[in-house]
Amino acid sequence: MLVNEASFFSVENSGCNGQFNYQVDDVVNDFKGKKVWITGHRGMLGSAMVRSMADSGAYLLMTSRVELDLLDRDAVMDWLHANQPEFVFHIGAKVGGIFANATLPADFLFENLSIQSNVIDGAYRAGVRKLLFVASNCTYPTNASQPIAEDALLTGPLDGNIRAYAVSKIAGIEMCRAYRRQHGSDFVSIIPPNLYGPGDNYHPQHSHVVAGILRRAHEAKMAGVKELVVWGDGTPRRELLHVDDLANAMKFIMATDAEHDLYNVGCGHDMAISQIASIIAEVTGFTGAIEYDHSKPNGTMRKLLDNTRVSSLGWKPAISERDGLAGAYRDFLARHAAEAGTDASAGTAAGGH
Ligand SMILES: NC(=O)c1ccc[n+]([C@@H]2O[C@H](COP(=O)([O-])OP(=O)(O)OC[C@H]3O[C@@H](n4cnc5c(N)ncnc54)[C@H](OP(=O)(O)O)[C@@H]3O)[C@@H](O)[C@H]2O)c1
Repeated sequence: MLVNEASFFSVENSGCNGQFNYQVDDVVNDFKGKKVWITGHRGMLGSAMVRSMADSGAYLLMTSRVELDLLDRDAVMDWLHANQPEFVFHIGAKVGGIFANATLPADFLFENLSIQSNVIDGAYRAGVRKLLFVASNCTYPTNASQPIAEDALLTGPLDGNIRAYAVSKIAGIEMCRAYRRQHGSDFVSIIPPNLYGPGDNYHPQHSHVVAGILRRAHEAKMAGVKELVVWGDGTPRRELLHVDDLANAMKFIMATDAEHDLYNVGCGHDMAISQIASIIAEVTGFTGAIEYDHSKPNGTMRKLLDNTRVSSLGWKPAISERDGLAGAYRDFLARHAAEAGTDASAGTAAGGH
């Protein structure tokens, strides 16, 4: 276990680039001197959460998988009782792109149900004051009307390729709701769209759509290949959110008096895969043609989140896709460029979630 003391949480200037506009009156939870557990702190969103909390004055509790396997119920219970966190950002989960989800559905369902049950029930038993659970936009039905409001949950069929993962996340949302209703626990869930940013997973098979296209654009540029092949026809739309924006929204929701048990947290607009691919080509310096493999699936055509609830709290995102993707590419170059191959022929799935 690592315990890290950070500096005082400045309410007036706590947002990304100082752009949050919530009022002091809205803040019910001050983190100064409080124990805050961030599960999955080594992952993309978890490490953004650590960055976001650095100025909060909290004692950040961070447990790597080696120190505490979240699948081990007894270990999680013991750890919670011994460490008594007041706030929990539950971020840790088994995460992957469409290929990983399609080939490992049993792992996604079993591991995420187990991890969530251990953390959420353990948090209740250890008397945690407030918990925030991170779900996913794949929990919404494929036929939900756009933009998708929170009450669309459980109203229709799910995307078959990621159904196991989606069901595990729906169970997490319902578990938080059930503990709220039965025990009065202040457990809240959020639904983000596609995330990207520093620390993303650029694995050739297991990455999400943005990381996948970015890696292949880089590889195509390095190999001098004239074409970058993207799966599908380029028309499906995706809403992207930078992880630093999401982490700041999570800190915001944790600090304020959240009226609802579920909040969509998106950027408020979406873009066609073809637009996203163009921006990625620009930031990576790939100057060849972007071709679309129409024989490959498009995936869900659109899943834009309705941001009304979180906006009414006073939160808004601060990082544009162009700036965010340029930063993501710098992070990719720093961490992965040497190991990335130069084979750009395999194409990139647009259907990733
Ligand atoms: N990425 C997206 O586009 C996206 C979109 C919507 C929602 N989300 C949700 O956001 C959260 C974070 O996603 P991410 O992209 O940041 O994922 P990530 O980079 O893969 O991070 C996941 C973290 O969970 C940890 N973890 C997994 N199983 C564990 C276990 N048994 N014990 C302890 N730690 C375990 C991992 O530890 P190791 O480092 O040891 O592997 C890792 O640190 C997840 O709940 C995900 O479902 C992500």
